[in-house]
Amino acid sequence: MDQLISKIEQYKNEIQSSTINSKASLEEFRIKYLGTKGLLKSIMGEMKSVPVDQKKEAGQLLNEFKVFVESFYESATHLVEGEQLNEESQLDVSLPGHSIPIGSRHPISIVHNKIVSIFQRLGFSIAEGPEIEDDWHNFTALNLPENHPARDMQDTFYISQNPDWLLRTHTSSVQIREMEKGNLPLRIICPGRVFRNETISARAHCFFNQIEGLYIAENVSFADLKQTLYFFVKEMFGVDVKVRFRPSYFPFTEPSAEMDISCLICGGEGCSVCKRTGWVEILGCGMVHPKVLENCGIDSKKYTGFAFGMGIERITMLTYQVKDLRLFSENDQRFLKQFTQA
Ligand code: DAH
Repeated sequence: MDQLISKIEQYKNEIQSSTINSKASLEEFRIKYLGTKGLLKSIMGEMKSVPVDQKKEAGQLLNEFKVFVESFYESATHLVEGEQLNEESQLDVSLPGHSIPIGSRHPISIVHNKIVSIFQRLGFSIAEGPEIEDDWHNFTALNLPENHPARDMQDTFYISQNPDWLLRTHTSSVQIREMEKGNLPLRIICPGRVFRNETISARAHCFFNQIEGLYIAENVSFADLKQTLYFFVKEMFGVDVKVRFRPSYFPFTEPSAEMDISCLICGGEGCSVCKRTGWVEILGCGMVHPKVLENCGIDSKKYTGFAFGMGIERITMLTYQVKDLRLFSENDQRFLKQFTQA
């Protein structure tokens, strides 16, 4: 028994002072201690010669020793494998990490959100309508009856199954839907996609986005329209931008106007974007035509209102100096990832 105890002690010391730092030395250790002809097996065999009354104690000692050898082997294995991994991958902790790609908003969405938030601060709320419209909401109710020459101002996609259906050519159709509900006063902006049968080029597309505005109440005047749009331009483009109104014609407003701002590219000096005029047109507007109010069941003697409509692509092109409208719908990431604003 004493012999067994001292052997175990000796082995333990040996094991503890052994250095295992490679796969080869690990395997050497395994064969020497844990192999079929290893020391653990042979020392276990010595149980046979232990007297019966000491067998229990000897069994315990041997078991403890077995656990000791096995756990030493296990931790040595982890150590060697870990080191090997480091060597293989040549881990360099000073290298910069892999960055996670973060998406960005579409420039049209950025500008859309900005426009919407400016009008929301003035008390306008958002209204939306369908992209597939009927003739009444897109044309007739807006004072564009059948055969009206101004219908040709917008080339329309009709839906072949039903001659009364079409893809809306402007978001002015949403004005009509909201006025028909009869909840006055009304102060809304209507963002949405519109469609026109145009040849696609750098300046025109068969679909694009508009924002329509409408304010109907008692005693609304052209001065209110001008102040609202002045505020919008200053918030959108900054206080230095100049504004001018030009008389124009839309069947659904009377009087009608178009609003220009001083060219953001050349600051009014004259360049190719403003066609050397120093001004660029950004929206159409006017006082809602009494006929349009009446078409929606609104008493035009009691109520007046103004409306305006602008193309989001146009404003985005001016804001970011984008020269080709087609870029907005091509989804080329090299273009889109340049717009990082929230
Ligand atoms: N609907 C017009 C267009 O698509 C834009 C427009 C002009 C809207 C004048 C209006 C307005 O509400 O008053 O060209």
